[in-house]
Amino acid sequence: MKPAPDSLRASKASGRRIASLTAYDFPAARLLDDCGLDLLLVGDSLGMVVLGHPDTTQVTMEDMLHHTRPVARGAEKTLVASDLPAGSCSTPESALQNARRLREAGADFVKIEGGREALPMVEAILADKIPVIGHLGMLPQRVREEGGYHVKGKSPAEADRLLSDARALDALGVSAIVLELVHAPLATEITRAVACPTIGIGSGQHCDGNILVLHDLVGLYPWFRPKFAQPRANFAAELQSAARSYAGEVRNPK
Ligand code: KIV
Repeated sequence: MKPAPDSLRASKASGRRIASLTAYDFPAARLLDDCGLDLLLVGDSLGMVVLGHPDTTQVTMEDMLHHTRPVARGAEKTLVASDLPAGSCSTPESALQNARRLREAGADFVKIEGGREALPMVEAILADKIPVIGHLGMLPQRVREEGGYHVKGKSPAEADRLLSDARALDALGVSAIVLELVHAPLATEITRAVACPTIGIGSGQHCDGNILVLHDLVGLYPWFRPKFAQPRANFAAELQSAARSYAGEVRNPK
């Protein structure tokens, strides 16, 4: 049985740290469902690690729905969040409509990138009782404008802005805030300042939880690995070794 989505926000008060990974298909979700994780994210990172795009900016709502459904089928005990992809939530109306579609596909939460500019969209979704996870810091959907993946919040002005964005999202009642590539001391300060849990990725050790892209954890996407991600397996090598040995045996049967 799944915990209620409210349990995510409540986990901060109980001191339970949130362990989270991405998942994009049924076998991963079903396997991860037995691993004691708190949250599976159908991230728009699927654009890179599953669909082969250079970044997440081309991911569509159809892609997200297509991958959310099998993850929801596999995750019987673990909460599932799904990303609102680039261009899917530029107005409160489109954000709400697309959040509803992700909910119908089986997501317990929708995740939306952005700070103060995203507040009207977050408000509209929350007003419909759909739980929302915020996402601050490095925003992959803006990687092209930003010219790469850079740590955020090192300058006082940027730090003030991120802190006040986090407070504003928290005040609206988001279930959690992902902090991606946020300067570690600032991530700690934000974590102390908000009532909702923070879930870090490349943001130091003092968030209320951590998330990683599954493919980075298991070494299944060797072409691009963020510095903060330490692979704990080498699935790419295992897969190639199995395929080469199979191909060799088909050509030269024993
Ligand atoms: O798309 C994604 O996988 C994400 C995580 C990196 C947080 O947003």
